[in-house]
Amino acid sequence: MTNDTNVTWHEHQVSRSLRESMKGHKGCVIWFTGLSGSGKSTVANTLDHKLHQMGVHSAVLDGDNVRHALNAGPGMLRGAHGDDFAERFGLGFTAMDREENIRRIGAVAHLFSQAGIIALTAFISPYRQDRDRVRRTMDAGEFIEIFVDTPLDVCETRDPKGLYKKARAGEIKNFTGIDDPYEAPSAPELVLQASEKTPGVLADEVIHYLTTQGIIG
Ligand code: PPS
Repeated sequence: MTNDTNVTWHEHQVSRSLRESMKGHKGCVIWFTGLSGSGKSTVANTLDHKLHQMGVHSAVLDGDNVRHALNAGPGMLRGAHGDDFAERFGLGFTAMDREENIRRIGAVAHLFSQAGIIALTAFISPYRQDRDRVRRTMDAGEFIEIFVDTPLDVCETRDPKGLYKKARAGEIKNFTGIDDPYEAPSAPELVLQASEKTPGVLADEVIHYLTTQGIIG
């Protein structure tokens, strides 16, 4: 593929299928989406642990961690790179910044998948259009969207980081579910009732799905 910037796509010598046959399973992206405090990271980590024990090569990308490095906010970038750089490239929580956050994560997760790894992403990813755009970059069956369906009142009661309280007090603006929208997926591959089941049971539901799809053996 060549575009108007004279950048050319190269096929690599070790193909995706060679990598997958060495590992004994396929690569894919398991995209958890849900409100803050819904349990995305907990389920992703539990699943990662179970897959690891099964000899499946997985990796977790999650919101707070990725926002410490690849998608750091201006505050974190300022010291190392200066004000101008931090303002241009640091990501916060405006709709535009979330869109770019999800675009970058999608691209990174795709690279993992192409390397034969099961990438587990745990981002609020509140806008349907941004998630659908990531889906369209991948092959059929490669992007597995999982809605972690925990009601807002449950997330708000849990409030593990005290962020809902701050959002209600007006100390955090554009907080998802409070003064910024969350658009639930219209046709996710799986829906997890995370307020009713344990992380272990939910992780097993995902493993069952991966088995039925022939992604893991
Ligand atoms: S997004 O919407 O997908 O770009 O967000 P994400 O990268 O997953 O980051 C979500 C975590 O950032 C913290 N946080 C906020 N969340 C939502 N809205 C606002 N305004 C906000 N500000 C900070 C919060 O700790 C989220 O973590 P989780 O794990 O989802 O609770």
